[in-house]
Amino acid sequence: VPDLTGRHFLKELDFTAEEFRGLVDLAARLKAAKKAGAEVQALRGRNIALIFEKTSTRTRCAFEVAAADQGASTTYLDPSGSQIGHKESVRDTARVLGRMFDAIEYRGDSQATVEELARYAGVPVYNGLTDDWHPTQMLADVLTVTEHTDKPLDRVAFAYLGDARYNMGNSYLVTGALLGMDLRVAAPRAYWPADDVVTRARKLAEGSGARITLTEDVAEGVAGADFVATDVWVSMGEPKEVWDERIAALRPYAVTMDVLRATGNPAVRFLHCLPAFHDLGTAVGREIHERHGLTELEVTDEVFESAHSVVFDEAENRLHTIKALMVATLAGADLPL
Ligand code: CP
Ligand code: NVA
Repeated sequence: VPDLTGRHFLKELDFTAEEFRGLVDLAARLKAAKKAGAEVQALRGRNIALIFEKTSTRTRCAFEVAAADQGASTTYLDPSGSQIGHKESVRDTARVLGRMFDAIEYRGDSQATVEELARYAGVPVYNGLTDDWHPTQMLADVLTVTEHTDKPLDRVAFAYLGDARYNMGNSYLVTGALLGMDLRVAAPRAYWPADDVVTRARKLAEGSGARITLTEDVAEGVAGADFVATDVWVSMGEPKEVWDERIAALRPYAVTMDVLRATGNPAVRFLHCLPAFHDLGTAVGREIHERHGLTELEVTDEVFESAHSVVFDEAENRLHTIKALMVATLAGADLPL
């Protein structure tokens, strides 16, 4: 396990493949220790600030439970309950919280904000999702992949369908490139990751041996895939007006049983970072249903509930991987394992 003491976790591009895999390996060990009732606390007496300018279920709970398991405490700052961005600059906030806390998690729109926090905090800063990247999700997804295949990561074929011009698409592309995977994005061209992200992924792929494919053709994208993943078509903070256009453009990229069959791989697994729109279980879902007559969008309920779906393993793994991140950056060389 690499010593990451004092390091920030802002985006995948800041890490080597060895460091990234080291975090995932540590998460697997922490998961096994917890399940065996043999977890050793490495973060006793530590304090973690959790800044959420957007809502969260998994990320917040993962940080809180992971901290509690490891003996640390957390303070949750919700979108309206602090001075951040309204009465106090990010720079000043960083310097204040850095005096009180051992680490700071931040979720919001802007990657520049989390980078600025990191510049001034003097303690590790973790990106809990921005418009550009969702790196803690990638740790969980890679752990989930390793649990559901016998192949080494550099032989895994991973297809991401849907809105790829945003945090999840960007993160998958760069993470796949970093780890030497056969990483495919199938989406309309307008929803491919931006050129600078693709360029950085291709550069990483030269070193790692990764194969990077961007295609508008679903069949080409998923052929032979070990994993098929998707994300919501409209992300947090995006206006309602974009729904119609998004649904029209992305419908051919919905993950259906036909898409899973098109992989030609009966053991194909389905991943989704969640929350997912696959039924009428939410207010947004009911609104979409009223407007468009649809009960499922990026993934069908049939796929979501099928034996191919490992989305709840993936969700659980947010806990173990976020724990690994905090342990590696705060307890570093002195790991309890
Ligand atoms: N996948 C994920 O980040 O979920 P939350 O928005 O619930 O944290
Ligand atoms: N792309 C989604 C991911 C949620 C975890 C969003 O940003 O809302």
